[in-house]
Amino acid sequence: MFNNMIEIKDAAHKLKDGFLVAFPTETVYGLGADATNQESVSRIFEIKNRPNDHPLIVHLASINQLPDWAIDIPKYAQDLAQAFWPGPMTLVLKRSILAEDFVTGGQPTVGLRVPDHVVALALLSAFEKIGGKGIAAPSANRFGHVSPTTAQAVQEELGDYLDTKDQILDGGPSSVGVESTIIDCTSDAPRILRPGAITIEMIERSTGLKVSTADTNIRVSGSLENHYAPQAAVFLNRTPEKGEGFIALADIQTPENVIRLATPKNIEEFARVIYSALRDADAQGLKSVVVAEPAGDGLALAIRDRLMRASKGR
Ligand code: TXA
Ligand code: MG
Repeated sequence: MFNNMIEIKDAAHKLKDGFLVAFPTETVYGLGADATNQESVSRIFEIKNRPNDHPLIVHLASINQLPDWAIDIPKYAQDLAQAFWPGPMTLVLKRSILAEDFVTGGQPTVGLRVPDHVVALALLSAFEKIGGKGIAAPSANRFGHVSPTTAQAVQEELGDYLDTKDQILDGGPSSVGVESTIIDCTSDAPRILRPGAITIEMIERSTGLKVSTADTNIRVSGSLENHYAPQAAVFLNRTPEKGEGFIALADIQTPENVIRLATPKNIEEFARVIYSALRDADAQGLKSVVVAEPAGDGLALAIRDRLMRASKGR
């Protein structure tokens, strides 16, 4: 891992010139484009092979850029932004005219996030300094695949599809490891669209409001089944057999002739290593992986959400 300011400024100029820059965040790596440049944003969809009506998250340098992108921001959303940005949280808000259909998938809302990673923040503020308004970035994987948590994983996923002028910034392994909590802030109370490291409890404590769990017809591609999936078949909570991969907390022993892919000591480490362990299964050519899911609320809930979808990935 090596990034100096010159490399980061260079990347900001590339974005301004219409090229793509993959960059590290604390959750997973993103594939970034100037969020106001339709042609660049359309390349993200091509490269990922992602359906056009799936909205992208716009990444901001700071909370100061929030009013550029969103209107009618409720007080509780301001409170959340103050409390958890920079951090692993995306707010879905009513969009301003800056957030065009090609970013929002034609929806009247926009997803916004200030990531908590030195390289991402340096890139975002260098981009802002040269007039950039925000960086649209989905996870830097092909549609439906496992999200990348290292620069090398981005290279393996997308290297064949990127232009020589596009760039991948290396910021080391992502510290959280699962994607941001997405919170719909378009009604009276916050509603979670995708669980992540910012938990229901944290949201309720910071806003004083009850988090709604009512159903929504808002489109969240990460909430589709058949997502976050490696080539290997993923099975949950059964005894692994000979030759299968196995991922479980450290206090669970490895049965004989099973290939242990990860041995996290706690839930945080589980989140951090889960995607690289699933990638490792593919690198080793394993046909199937068994995961013993972690119990509990909070981050464990986010891990189980992704694993449930990964296990339906075929
Ligand atoms: O942690 C993350 O959120 C990472 C890093 C790179 O920031 N990004 C990420 O992006 O996970 P992506 O595109 O892989 O997943 C973003 C999810 C999608 O499921 C998308 O449908 C949803 O956010 N989303 C974006 N804008 C939305 C909106 N206006 N309304 C509802 N959902 C939205
Ligand atoms: Mg994704």
